Amino acid sequence: MTKVLRLVGAAVLVLLLVLITAIGILGSRSPREQYFEVAVEAVPVSSGDPAAIERGRYFVHAIAVCGVCHGLDLAGQVMSDSPIFGHVRTPNLTPGRNGVGQYYRPVDWARAIRHGLAVDGRAFAFMPVDHYYHIIDADLGDMIAYLESLAPVDNEGAVVDLNIVTRAIINSGLLGDLVRAGIMDHGGPRPTPPAERGAYLAIVGGCDFCHGPGLRGGQGPEPGAPPGPDITGSSRIATWTPEQFAAVMREGRKPEGDIINPMFMPWRNGYENMSTADIEILFRYLRSLPTGAGPD
Ligand code: HEC
Ligand code: HEC
Repeated sequence: MTKVLRLVGAAVLVLLLVLITAIGILGSRSPREQYFEVAVEAVPVSSGDPAAIERGRYFVHAIAVCGVCHGLDLAGQVMSDSPIFGHVRTPNLTPGRNGVGQYYRPVDWARAIRHGLAVDGRAFAFMPVDHYYHIIDADLGDMIAYLESLAPVDNEGAVVDLNIVTRAIINSGLLGDLVRAGIMDHGGPRPTPPAERGAYLAIVGGCDFCHGPGLRGGQGPEPGAPPGPDITGSSRIATWTPEQFAAVMREGRKPEGDIINPMFMPWRNGYENMSTADIEILFRYLRSLPTGAGPD
């Protein structure tokens, strides 16, 4: 018996050593230490035009849902204060204290939004830029007009301080690719915008991030999140009324009455701002998707 115990003990020790070494190697490098040089194409921006600013505000807060991470006033907010995971405060986008709006030019906004890269070419962690890459010039121009118009809000500077275990987990790919800029083809031709607005909303809105390729079901990266269910036309949403779908987007409320945790699906400060018209377009589009034949 003691011999068996000793063997088990030795095996556990070896495993532990392997684990510690793996964490040490994988965690030594920050996943954010990736640099890319891209030729950023300038887009026309109607700076100061109230109509463009209004359209940009809508796109930023309802479709691209920047406020979910950067706060409703876009002045940055604490996303994680966990000693286990690390500390993350998103950057202040306004022209206030510590805000990038103080020095960002239109081309810098385009680089950040479409490519997920800072002015020096460093790739951002966590920001879903592979989805934003699909934003067409007109919408990007409106977004920039809006971002340029932000009122200055003072805040503390951005912090992305990931501890060694978190770095190791992210670098191992266990949570998927969290530095989305690192998986993009920055030099390729611009993606062709889909003919349907519903498809465009789903792509830019990042539904497949959690609902999987073709929206046939997937898994978001948030620890503890339930799977993102199938939301194609042969899923249970086929039997829903437009009001039932709207309740999910606006209040996170499923037909059974339970509320989706906004940490697991970004409806609060996000999709809840979608217009009724866009929610209907999205619903019609999802229901038109045959299972197994959605966009990948
Ligand atoms: C899922 C969360 C998330 C969403 C959504 C998001 N961001 Fe970010 N963003 C971040 C994080 C985290 C960083 C810092 C990343 C880093 O430094 O590695 C960041 C960085 C930035 C920066 C870089 C500032 C600098 O230091 O140069 C800009 C600009 C920015 N975001 C703009 C936006 C805009 C505009 C949107 C919407 C179109 C958006 N973000 C949506 C999480 C998010
Ligand atoms: C960050 C992850 C995430 C993103 C992005 C996301 N969802 Fe979800 N969604 C979820 C999760 C997780 C659930 C299931 C929650 C539960 O069961 O409590 C869900 C549930 C739903 C449901 C309810 C399905 C059912 O059968 O009850 C609908 C509809 C839905 N999402 C639509 C969308 C649409 C449309 C988009 C894009 C505009 C989107 N989601 C983006 C994570 C996400």
